[in-house]
This record gives sequence, C-alpha cells and structure tokens, in this order.
Amino acid sequence: MIAVRVEDRAGERASFAVRPGERLLHAGLSAGLGLPYECATGTCGGCKATVTEGEARSLWNAAPGRRVCRRPGEILMCQSAVASETLTLKLPAAFREAREPPSGVRVGRVCGFRHLTPEIGTFSVELDAPIEHAPGQFALISAPGVEGPRAYSMTSAPSSTPRLDFLARLNEAGALTPLLFSGALDGCEVNVLGPLGRATLRSDDDRPFLAIVGGSGIAGMLSIVEAALAAGHFGRHPSRLVFGLRKPNGAFLLDELADAVRRSQGGLRVTVAFSDEPPGPDFAAAFPDLEAAHGLAHDVVRAGVSEIAAERPIVFVAGPPPMVDASMRMLVMEAKVSPAEIRFDRFG
Ligand code: FES
Repeated sequence: MIAVRVEDRAGERASFAVRPGERLLHAGLSAGLGLPYECATGTCGGCKATVTEGEARSLWNAAPGRRVCRRPGEILMCQSAVASETLTLKLPAAFREAREPPSGVRVGRVCGFRHLTPEIGTFSVELDAPIEHAPGQFALISAPGVEGPRAYSMTSAPSSTPRLDFLARLNEAGALTPLLFSGALDGCEVNVLGPLGRATLRSDDDRPFLAIVGGSGIAGMLSIVEAALAAGHFGRHPSRLVFGLRKPNGAFLLDELADAVRRSQGGLRVTVAFSDEPPGPDFAAAFPDLEAAHGLAHDVVRAGVSEIAAERPIVFVAGPPPMVDASMRMLVMEAKVSPAEIRFDRFG
C-alpha cells in the first residue's frame, strides 16, 4: 500500500492508502474522505486535483473529464493511479462533509436482466454482503473482460438485503451494456464499488421536493420516491417529479410511477414531458394518475417558476449533461435557486 497525502484549498490535510493500480478517488472515498467528485467515471471533471509531489499515471487518457486538466500536474483522481513511492495532491476546493454512507467494494453476481424497451433494462446484483446506501445513490460495476468500471443508479430504496436493483441504458458502442443486454453477464461475478453520489434524500429533509429527470436519470429518483413514500414524506410535503422522455412510444417505468402517485394519496404529482412528440389521447386513458406534456422537462417546470421561488423546495436534477445544464440554468437564473441547493447527477 502507498500513502497518499491530500491538502484541500483551505489547508486542511488528510491521507489514505492506495494499492498499485487502484483509482485514487475510489481509495480515498473508501477511506471515508470527502473528496470532490460527481460521476466517478471520468466524464465530468469534478475530481480534478494537482500532484504537488510524486507521480500519478493516467488510466484513461481519453477521459472526457480531462478537458478540465489544463495545467501541469492536474489529474482526474477517478482515472489515475499512483506511480511513485509517495504522492501528495492539492484539491481546488474544500473537503466535502461525508454525510452519505461510506463506500466499499463488494463482490456480487448479476441476475434478473429484463428489457423495459430495446434500449432500457433493469437488472440486479446479489452481493456477498449488503451495502448501506442512501436513496438516489449509484454504484460502479466492474465486469470481467471490460476495462474500467461503469456507473449505475440503484432503483431500489435502501434495505438490509444484499441485493441491489439497477437501471441501465444500452450503449451500442460501449463494452458493458451490450453484454448485459445480450444476457451474457447473467450469473457473472462482478465487483461493485459503492455507494456513491450526493444527490440523495436525507432523513432530516423536511421540505417538499421538485425533481427534474431525463431518460435513465429516473433510476435514482425511483429510489428517492420509494424512500419518501416509506417515510410518509408526501403526506407532510407535497412534491413534484417531471420526467423527460423523447416519445410516448418507448416510454418506460410509467406503471411504477403511476403506482407511486396512487400510494402517495395526492402527495406526489408526476408529469411526463415528451420532447419529440406530443402524447396522444390514449396516454391519459392508460395513465390517469400521470400528467403529460409536450416539451423539454425544464421548460415544463419553467411554467411554475414563481412557485419554486416562493416554496424553496429541495431540488433534484438527474440526466444527460445538456438536460442537467439547461435545468440548472433555468433554476438558478429564473427561479433564483442557489446552485448549492441543487442536488444533481450528470451523466453521459
Ligand atoms: Fe472524476 Fe467525474 S468524478 S471525472
């Protein structure tokens, strides 16, 4: 094991141990440090740090998040391993308060893959021991023969069972999801690192929430909705979820959302926003508990911007980067929500 020292912008110091070849971010989070990150998979650039002593080696030179590494010594902690006998890093921000359950690595087996549409599916991993997670978190799955881990959000509410349920979107050009969607991973042993992610519903959250999610970003929100139902959150705080999809043909998880609306007894309002095609009259007949709209999810929310400014809800945003960025702009510029108040998951 090699010791890594870290200093944040305020001069606070911490250290953790890393194995040769292990990703620095994963080792630091597993040690309970509040390191900065968003995606943990090389996309966002949120885990940037500067090497001030020693050397690190990049595990993925083409990582999209490396666009933020412009100065000598800047690295992505989630895509770098140690390459010297000691390593010292400087963070551009302060350590985050570690509020979520600690991360760790578990071994598990993939089971129960099910197509929801040709491009979206659900699957489970039976772990050797349970992972404690907060609603809205994700985990990194490493499969044999696939270079590097991939991130998937848990759809299930936290429980003490050693089984995690996930949602996945098929990436034809990727290495892992084609295996998953073909059934080739069924029964395969995988490593699971988690939980990760800070866009969570906390037990002391005592306000309504507004969620804007796109596509497979619904995965973590399902977990949040289930946890909120179990805690009676909607009885105290009526909340709203706007779910962005392209077309009615190809929609998924609407039965589950309609069921959640019914169980909330009026406390949860769900609007499905179709960007490319308006919902037909058959939508209302099939899903009387859901509302439907034609447009982008954040534009649907924009219509009630004055209510957001007045109510100050907890705001969740999850989905592809352009959707998350447009939603954040609208929330900050028009609804006057502080960026620090927005809990978001941005993934490609
Ligand atoms: Fe490392 Fe996103 S957390 S690039």
